[in-house]
Amino acid sequence: MRLPDPALVVLVGASGSGKSTWAAERYRPQEVVSSDALRGVVGSGNHDLDASVDAFAILEQVVAARVGRGLCTVVDTLGLDAGRRTSWLALARQAGLPAVAVVLATPEADCRRRNAARDVPVPAPALAGQLRRMRTVAEELATEGWEVVVTTEGAASQGAAAEEQVVARPAPVADTRDRRTSAGVEVVLQVSRFPWGEDPAGWLTGIALEADRLGFAGIALMDHLVQIPQVGRAWEPIPEPYVTLGLLAGLDTRLRLGTLVTPMTLRPAGVVAKAVATLDALSGGRAFVGVGAGWWEREHAGFGVPFPGARERLDLLEDGIETMRALWSPGTKAWHGTRAALPETTCYPRPVGPVPVIVGGSGERRTLRIAARLGDACNLPSDPAVLAAKTAVLHAHCSDVGRDPAEVAVTVLDLPVVGHDRGDAWRRVERLRGRTAAASYAARHHAAPAPAHAERYAALAEQHGVSTVFLGLPDLDSADDLERVAPLLA
Ligand code: UTP
Ligand code: MG
Repeated sequence: MRLPDPALVVLVGASGSGKSTWAAERYRPQEVVSSDALRGVVGSGNHDLDASVDAFAILEQVVAARVGRGLCTVVDTLGLDAGRRTSWLALARQAGLPAVAVVLATPEADCRRRNAARDVPVPAPALAGQLRRMRTVAEELATEGWEVVVTTEGAASQGAAAEEQVVARPAPVADTRDRRTSAGVEVVLQVSRFPWGEDPAGWLTGIALEADRLGFAGIALMDHLVQIPQVGRAWEPIPEPYVTLGLLAGLDTRLRLGTLVTPMTLRPAGVVAKAVATLDALSGGRAFVGVGAGWWEREHAGFGVPFPGARERLDLLEDGIETMRALWSPGTKAWHGTRAALPETTCYPRPVGPVPVIVGGSGERRTLRIAARLGDACNLPSDPAVLAAKTAVLHAHCSDVGRDPAEVAVTVLDLPVVGHDRGDAWRRVERLRGRTAAASYAARHHAAPAPAHAERYAALAEQHGVSTVFLGLPDLDSADDLERVAPLLA
């Protein structure tokens, strides 16, 4: 069987399983990066375990440099560390190299026998641990996103080659698409209804994979305990967003993932910081978080969550953003904010990179001021007149608090009715409008075919500096509905 070449090839197998032998028969010596050989370079010999940390540091550097240049690279280590595998896979993705995992499924007895025959055998308990890990590694590999997973029982020259291609996906085209429209807007799918029938996870997965395929920049979920009346009935499902985003983080996509918006009344800010940091770690740095002061009293009452007055809720928002940023910053030192204080800021895992904080809400006196002071972005209504007025207030606050307005991105929530054509757009209005007059429903949701919305988004970018549109489809029933919106992403 021919493996893709050049490729990133990661060997996976216990000591003595024949990894180095397999690699030597197929690749040039300089293509094989071996932790054992590097132990010999920085330590007393290939089996000097005291030199492991240094050897792996160099190995990582060599792998990154070679893969970054698009050179064929064979990583000869035990391959049993899922974290390392994932980061090598990410390097390959970035470089557009296919990623191949080669599993040396040599019988355990052979590994033990060969190990025992060595000058410096691996201690028996260590080998036993490796062999135990090998029993489940195939399952792990199957979900990691390798283009090819090969299982082999030994080196070809030994005549025992029983190679079997377990998973082969189409050779990857590195997805380097810039996920902005030609007008420079990124469109994030906002999901607020969940008509998932009997298969919640399947429905969500389908939506996310299709959104990624079509070129959406991300997915945003509402954060409510009870479905809100603007969207659906109270007994319709609305999942806990951070658990749900965890599911989406496990899919092989480039989608950015977050909430729009998390009311800071629902969880202590530190706990939100923890969830978002974890989401960022699990998704490889794709998390964002929308935050707001909360407004819906009923969901608080129903879940036994206090719902203080507006002033206190806005305090929670302001203190909460400061608290989250404190817990995401390096170190564990004590933190004293303007109003709140923490004796330490020990929060691991930390986010992979800076997590954008989007402040939702358009209260002019306080919310927009909080956005100006602490936000990476401010989420506003997409109606151009409202947007112009709110942006002006936001920018006034920025100059007031000494912040460059360019540091606070303007994002909008837009809920378009998108028809295949004019007739289809109007049929959708009739179906969706409930008791609202058709004309005002159509106007509020800009009912039209996709090209009209694309022009609208271009105008939002050009005239109002909008960087991101959170697009919520009022009639998103299944993944099939997204294709209709695709022209908006062009
Ligand atoms: P390797 O040295 O290739 O194993 O083979 P490995 O997986 O890379 O081991 P570690 O992790 O670095 O410790 C181990 C022994 O098995 C023989 C080789 O000649 C070597 O002596 N071997 C390998 C076979 O006899 N048959 C094979 O198919 C492969
Ligand atoms: Mg070896």
